[in-house]
Amino acid sequence: MTKIKPRVSPLVESLPPSGIRKFFDIVANTKGVISLGVGEPDFVTPWHIREACFYSLEQGFTMYTSNWGLLELRKEISRFMEREYALEYNPENEIIVTVGASEAIDVAMRSVLSPGDEVILPEPCYVSYKPCILLSGAKPVVVETFEEDDFRLQPSAIREKITPETRVLVLCFPNNPTGAIMSKEDLEEIARICVSYDLLVISDEIYSELTYSGEHVSIASLPGMKNRTILVNGFSKAWAMTGWRIGFCCGPKDIINAMVKIHQYTILCAPIMSQMAALEALKSLNGEVGKMVNEYNRRRRFVVSRLREIGLDCFEPQGAFYVFPSIKATGMTSEDFSQRLLDEEKVAVVPGNAFGEAGEGHIRISYASSMKNLSKALEKMESFLSRRINR
Ligand SMILES: Cc1ncc(COP(=O)(O)O)c(C=O)c1O
Repeated sequence: MTKIKPRVSPLVESLPPSGIRKFFDIVANTKGVISLGVGEPDFVTPWHIREACFYSLEQGFTMYTSNWGLLELRKEISRFMEREYALEYNPENEIIVTVGASEAIDVAMRSVLSPGDEVILPEPCYVSYKPCILLSGAKPVVVETFEEDDFRLQPSAIREKITPETRVLVLCFPNNPTGAIMSKEDLEEIARICVSYDLLVISDEIYSELTYSGEHVSIASLPGMKNRTILVNGFSKAWAMTGWRIGFCCGPKDIINAMVKIHQYTILCAPIMSQMAALEALKSLNGEVGKMVNEYNRRRRFVVSRLREIGLDCFEPQGAFYVFPSIKATGMTSEDFSQRLLDEEKVAVVPGNAFGEAGEGHIRISYASSMKNLSKALEKMESFLSRRINR
């Protein structure tokens, strides 16, 4: 008898569904829910950016661009990186424009990883890294970050996991879901490890502009690191441009060149209208981003203080737009907590275990939502908790 081969690749079949999606499919079918789940700005893209897109369409810019992205945009990205992070990238061959940071992460992994390679992955972390590593045939090796360390990545934890197969370290700071950031001193020791073990770093800095205390430092700016760091960034978060699907990646030219190879066969180029909008976003710094950052900061303070008031231990996040309180005092698992909160109070949050096992005992709350929604949701959480914890 001939053996029937599976129609779907066993590797793809084995990937778990995103814990965020799973939850949001439930939310989509429930009426009147206050959702603090999505990692998406509640602001609309600033008007001048939308207008630049309309104007480009009026002028007939509807064609493919270079696989690398518009040179004018790459030049502007290069200026931005130099101005903000003192990092010099040649727009001709060290920058690629991608379809969101998401494409950059996937293509970066596929450009450098081979089957059998190991990737050190700090968790809790954004949901796409692990599947992208697995789809590259490589092996994710998790290191946990802990609330006691303000969710900063500890150099000793990296050292413990290094083997002869280790090729890449993934960094995501400011972090989704914890809101943790890393100081220059924190990163210096990690950089020394990367240099001495010859590791590459894929550094997802999509939340770099949303840093509320101190300045964002890129590991690429530290000694010996520029030539071993693939720096991912994009417009979705700080410029409120999630739907435009536009991001970029800066790095050593051999790697960016390899990324362009994959990108040209699979994507061809990022949409020209989004590239035109991104160009405007970088060119005219008219304070819109600053206004959004100030508003996120106001909400961050409010949510942290309310969570503490209602009895949840809460690490004070310093970046991105998430709070990651502990729910251990309730004795519930993060999935149970989130499901019951949704059923009883119609408030949606994301269970911490969606970001890896290390996220168990926590929930992720996004404060990219109006103050009205936040304060109503926190009132509802208060009554939910009052039935469960004695204060
Ligand atoms: C850490 C992180 N990286 C990347 C992305 C994806 O960004 P983009 O919309 O640019 O694909 C997200 C979105 O939530 C994220 O949180």
